[in-house]
Amino acid sequence: MSVCRFCGKTGAFRFRSYNIRVCAECYPEFYEKLVKKTLTKYRMVRKGDKIALAVSGGKDSMAMADVMKTLSTKMDFEVITMHIDLGISDYSRKSVKAVREFDPDAVIVSLNDVAGFGIENMKGKACSACGKVKRYLMNRTAREYGAEKLATGHTADDISVFFIKNWLSGNFQWSDKLLPVTEGFHEKILTRIRPLYERTERENALYVLARGLEFVIDECPLSPIDEWKDILYEVERRKPGFKQNFVRGIVRFSNRKEEEWNVELCPECGEISSGGLCGFCRLKRRVIKR
Ligand code: AMP
Ligand code: FES
Ligand code: ZN
Repeated sequence: MSVCRFCGKTGAFRFRSYNIRVCAECYPEFYEKLVKKTLTKYRMVRKGDKIALAVSGGKDSMAMADVMKTLSTKMDFEVITMHIDLGISDYSRKSVKAVREFDPDAVIVSLNDVAGFGIENMKGKACSACGKVKRYLMNRTAREYGAEKLATGHTADDISVFFIKNWLSGNFQWSDKLLPVTEGFHEKILTRIRPLYERTERENALYVLARGLEFVIDECPLSPIDEWKDILYEVERRKPGFKQNFVRGIVRFSNRKEEEWNVELCPECGEISSGGLCGFCRLKRRVIKR
C-alpha cells in the first residue's frame, strides 16, 4: 500500500533507492534532511559562513536555494540569492521573473549591462562562451557581495554525465568540478559547494513541486539536448540508487592516496599483496589450520 513512512497517509511517492514512500507533505522535510547530511558529510558549510546561492531559475538550483535558505537558520550560516541575466530572450525573462518571485532581494546581474552583449548575440558555440561568462560573473559578483562560498545546483545526474562523457572521450581529465567541494585556489576565487551532489533531478523536481515554488520548465534554447541524461534515467529506473552510488564512487576514487596503489610482496609466496600475507596465503593458512 502506498502509505507515507512518516505520517501514514496514503498517496505517497515511491523512492526505490531508499526503499520508502513519502507523501507530498512530509517530503520537504525528508529532502531537507538528505541535503543536511550532504552538507555535513562533505564539510560544505561552517557556522557564520556567507554563501551565495547561484540560481538559474530551473528546478534544481531553485530546490537548492530554497532548502539552503531553510538550513541557513537551522545551521547558522548566511545566504544571498544571485542570478545572472544572460540575455537569452524569453528564456532569460522567465528566469529573472522566477528568481524575483523566489527572493525579491536577489542580486541580479545582467550580462548586457556589464559587458554590452547578451549570449544570444554570440556567434558559434554560445554554450561554451556562456559557461565562461557564468563562472566569471558568479564568482566576481558573489565576492563583491562579501560571500566566501558559492553554491550551485549541480546534481548527481550532472556529475555522472560529466564523468562518463569525459571518460569516453579517451583523454580523461581529472577535474575538481567532479567533487562536492572545490576549494578556491586564490583569494579571488571562492570555494564552490554543490549541496545537491547526491540528489537526483527527480528528487529536486518533487521538492519544488511539493513546496509550490515557481520555476522555469523550459531548457535553455541554445543548449544541445543531452542524450546521456535520458540513458542514465533508464539506468536509475532499473538500478535504483545508481546515480548516488556512482557519485560516491567518484569521491572515494579521488581520495585514494598514492600509497594505496603501492603494493607489497607476500613474505610467504612472493606474489603481490596489499600488506603482509597475500589473500591466497591467508586463506591457505586458515584452511590448513582447520
Ligand atoms: P548549468 O551550467 O546550466 O548546468 O548550471 C549549473 C549551475 O550553475 C546551476 O545549478 C546554477 O546553480 C548555476 N547557474 C546556471 N545558470 C545560472 C544563472 N543564469 N544565474 C545564476 N546561476 C546559474
Ligand atoms: Fe548558457 Fe544556454 S544557459 S547557452
Ligand atoms: Zn506523510
